[in-house]
Amino acid sequence: MGCGNGSSRVFFATAMNKKTIREIEVKGKRVLVRCDFNVPQDKQDLHITDDRRIREALPTINYLLEHGAALILMSHLGRPKGKDEKYSLKPVAARLQELLGRPVQMANDVIGDAVVAQAQALKPGDVMLLENVRFYPEEEKNDPAFARELARLGEVYVNDAFGSAHRAHASTCGVAAYLPAVAGFLMEKELNYLGGALENPRRPFVAILGGAKIGDKIGVIENLLPKVDRILIGGGMANTFMLAKSYPVGASLVEADKLDLARALLQNGATKLVLPIDWVIADRFAADAQAQTVTATNVPNDWRILDIGPATIQLFEQELQNAKTAIWNGPMGVFEFPKFARGTLAIARALANLTDCVTIIGGGDSAAAVESAGVADKMSHVSTGGGASLEFMEGRALPGVQALQDK
Ligand code: 3PG
Repeated sequence: MGCGNGSSRVFFATAMNKKTIREIEVKGKRVLVRCDFNVPQDKQDLHITDDRRIREALPTINYLLEHGAALILMSHLGRPKGKDEKYSLKPVAARLQELLGRPVQMANDVIGDAVVAQAQALKPGDVMLLENVRFYPEEEKNDPAFARELARLGEVYVNDAFGSAHRAHASTCGVAAYLPAVAGFLMEKELNYLGGALENPRRPFVAILGGAKIGDKIGVIENLLPKVDRILIGGGMANTFMLAKSYPVGASLVEADKLDLARALLQNGATKLVLPIDWVIADRFAADAQAQTVTATNVPNDWRILDIGPATIQLFEQELQNAKTAIWNGPMGVFEFPKFARGTLAIARALANLTDCVTIIGGGDSAAAVESAGVADKMSHVSTGGGASLEFMEGRALPGVQALQDK
């Protein structure tokens, strides 16, 4: 299987046809596992501020350990330019050790004879974590020699890093050319939820899309339009749609170069796209800005739209009421400012209240929103992927998935 470049547009690229760790013998083997341990950290003391990606890797890690494997885990963290202690995976090793309740050996490097020797000395049940694979520029270049060096460490390769599956890098993709390569449980779960929704949704199927820019979501809208029953649009991207319909948007963020595209999407999706009918606007872009609620026809020139209004929240709640599948990507407003977080938190709660609906949260800011609304555990699935879930929702093939063995 090649790595591809992730740009081919295939629909329904699910993991269903890929082998998983259930279908491969791992007993007594050294298993090289790519995780996505790219977790947010406090800038001062490097404390991990959200360990969800580490916790979500535990089912695969525990399964492999219970089945007699020795584990060599690897991940990137951040975007270092070469070796840089600030981007060390040591804090991840410490957290993982707490969560697993067994020692996690930290390697001093990613490749090389000393690391190979350390890996070869592992016994079944032992766990070791490599340093940040991005300490080597060869990683992001998907350099074959580097991928081969990584492959020396294990006898089986497992990719459980859904969050990085859109990257055709050596540890996510290239290494699969040199070892039997299968998916882990997190990868499988992500692809089953996201792929299942796109391929075979229970209806009505409602998508909620937000975030700042249409530019970032064009591919998603185009791919989802034929599949969904409704797309509810909020966030900064709604402004460009509203301007395309000649509504006033005051001093709000708009993408002037995307107006024609917005018009075309509105035409294609006339019966499916649902736009806001009122707003919470601000006199400036600040947490303590003066705020007021106005209808969509009443945005003053020098004010800016920072959230959807109460009537829109109600409209969106109604649209969601009978949904059987709902997928959400992107906040409804500037939810980092509490005054303008109401729309985003209301959507999180509306989704949490749906009892007969598969609710899927497409990573990034929307995942943060359901966490801060305290309803993450009420969702069917909160994706660990930001860019990866977006690319998947665009219908793109993910190189990290393509590289795995077919069933
Ligand atoms: C993510 O956080 O989206 C993934 O870990 C990928 O990180 P990257 O955008 O730096 O490749």
